[in-house]
Amino acid sequence: MANDERGISTTERTLTSPNVIGGMTLMGGQDTIECVTGAAAKTTGISPTFLGLLAAEPLAGLSVLDVGTGWGRLALELAPRCRRIVGIDRERSLIEDARRRAAAAGMANAEFVVADAEACEYQTFTPDMVVAHLCMSDAIIERAGRALAPGRLFGFVAFEAEQWRETGRRSRFSYDEARARALLDANGFAVEHLEVDRDTRRYDSVEAALAAVVGLEDKWRSDGRWFRYIKFLEEGGRTLTRSHLIVKARRR
Ligand SMILES: C[S@@+](CC[C@H](N)C(=O)[O-])C[C@H]1O[C@@H](n2cnc3c(N)ncnc32)[C@H](O)[C@@H]1O
Repeated sequence: MANDERGISTTERTLTSPNVIGGMTLMGGQDTIECVTGAAAKTTGISPTFLGLLAAEPLAGLSVLDVGTGWGRLALELAPRCRRIVGIDRERSLIEDARRRAAAAGMANAEFVVADAEACEYQTFTPDMVVAHLCMSDAIIERAGRALAPGRLFGFVAFEAEQWRETGRRSRFSYDEARARALLDANGFAVEHLEVDRDTRRYDSVEAALAAVVGLEDKWRSDGRWFRYIKFLEEGGRTLTRSHLIVKARRR
């Protein structure tokens, strides 16, 4: 990990691996933030750095709101450590899945609610902390700023500008460091940690590079990324970049 001149820590790894880079993602098609579903999505981990940043907070006494919870991946991870967690998502089927998982795990302090995170106000859920994992927008930052009292924490992982740079199409939901800092500042947050976690995988062949994105093909076909990625491969490119911003910010 290195610190650049703005004090932003940057983790950059270049791996040689034919492994699938699948999982949850947030894409810039129209006004939707979407979730890649299926096996790949459900096996993708959450950054240990992010979990460590959250675990450093006094979770046991806190009521946490997980925005864009999906099937509860982050919420179910945090539930055993916090007083209460509410996960919201606009996809009813995902909320039902999260409820089933919470019930199966006997988690009585985890609630899941169908809600539009860019339309509702978070005060309804009386959060002491707001978290979001791969679901981020200006509207979410604004709402977190309105809902949290001074000293309270907002922690999130968002797509960074270089996410899937090989596809030549930047998500409107991705943030570069400067924009994230400016928005957080404008909404009353002091940034305590901002890290770019970037992973550029290199493939030995076109086949390996295609295998890496097999779970994304349908989505990428619909948003135009697929043809750009194929062109990139035809021109000799053999990489795929995953890039996330990991942020911990406190309400001033
Ligand atoms: C990439 S998934 C991440 C899910 C989960 N946080 C995780 O990491 O597993 C993005 C999630 O945000 C949800 N989402 C997108 N826009 C939303 C909105 N306006 N209101 C509520 N949920 C939203 C999607 O339904 C999806 O479940």
